[in-house]
Amino acid sequence: MGRKLIIDTDPGVDDAFAIALAALSDDVELLGVTTVFGNVSLPRTTSNALRLLALCGRADVPVAAGADRPLVYPQQSRATHIHGPDGLSGRSSVLPEPARQARRAGAVSLMVELLERADEPVTIAAIGPLTNVALLLAAHPRVRDRISRIVIMGGGLDHGNTTAMAEFNVWSDPEAARRVLVEEDVPCVLVPLDLTLRCAVDSAWLAKLAAAGPVGAALTALTPDYLASYRRVLGFEGMAMHDAVAVAEAIRPGILRTKSFPIEIDCTSGPGRGATLVDRRSEPARAQGEGPVHAGVADVALDTDLDGLRNFVLGRISRS
Ligand code: RIB
Ligand code: CA
Repeated sequence: MGRKLIIDTDPGVDDAFAIALAALSDDVELLGVTTVFGNVSLPRTTSNALRLLALCGRADVPVAAGADRPLVYPQQSRATHIHGPDGLSGRSSVLPEPARQARRAGAVSLMVELLERADEPVTIAAIGPLTNVALLLAAHPRVRDRISRIVIMGGGLDHGNTTAMAEFNVWSDPEAARRVLVEEDVPCVLVPLDLTLRCAVDSAWLAKLAAAGPVGAALTALTPDYLASYRRVLGFEGMAMHDAVAVAEAIRPGILRTKSFPIEIDCTSGPGRGATLVDRRSEPARAQGEGPVHAGVADVALDTDLDGLRNFVLGRISRS
């Protein structure tokens, strides 16, 4: 059996590594994959998810497409300059053809079906904009107690990547992120950029993955555009695997060291839109000062054994 998991995703090169990590882990019961707009359009994220599961030999995993746009305001831009025109460095066609079609019923319906059928609470790994998860919780409040945790790749404590203060997943739909992280009371783990960038992998790691087997070779073949983007950001030949860090926590709770903090999301239309406001002041300082009125609380991932995390991901994906 194993840990029951649903992945909500916008593949995306780093999503591809995250999906493979879950799909190839024997101790994970990957119940389903739901797709959302984000790095690229919904049709492309959905096709990419189907092809990636075919690559991993997991055509048994149902896929359903969800939101093609944010809850309230249009997404300002995609991330094709980072992930390539198709979301996978323009190489999606080298992946196997989808072994099945996406469910017609849609992402929220599939998540409700899987949550209600599961005989124990399910972990949701949210590694794209949070629109589907926000819609699920708003339209089906009764499923809240069927969710063990929502592990979210998103947010930046000290900086953003899409703007000075906003990380792409939260920036793409701040209202959805606020619904999930602030207004709902489902346990959330936030895995922010500050940690995922520290978990970046280098060319030696990628070479080991490429040599590890067909899945590793196929995944590394999807990285050229993404590597070109991260070479500039990191200053060395490597890449961030943001989403795989979050999925590692989803499938191996405690692999990341977390601490609980009040959290708020900036949903204004100013320069801070999409910022994740994690209040790391001490309790007395918070009590003494001013704080957000309706903050939520999240377990925020602050640290990990970086090499241990990298070896965990490599070892799991190399199992193919
Ligand atoms: O900011 C990084 C996040 O945005 C990752 O999930 C990446 O895939 C993009 O969706
Ligand atoms: Ca993603």
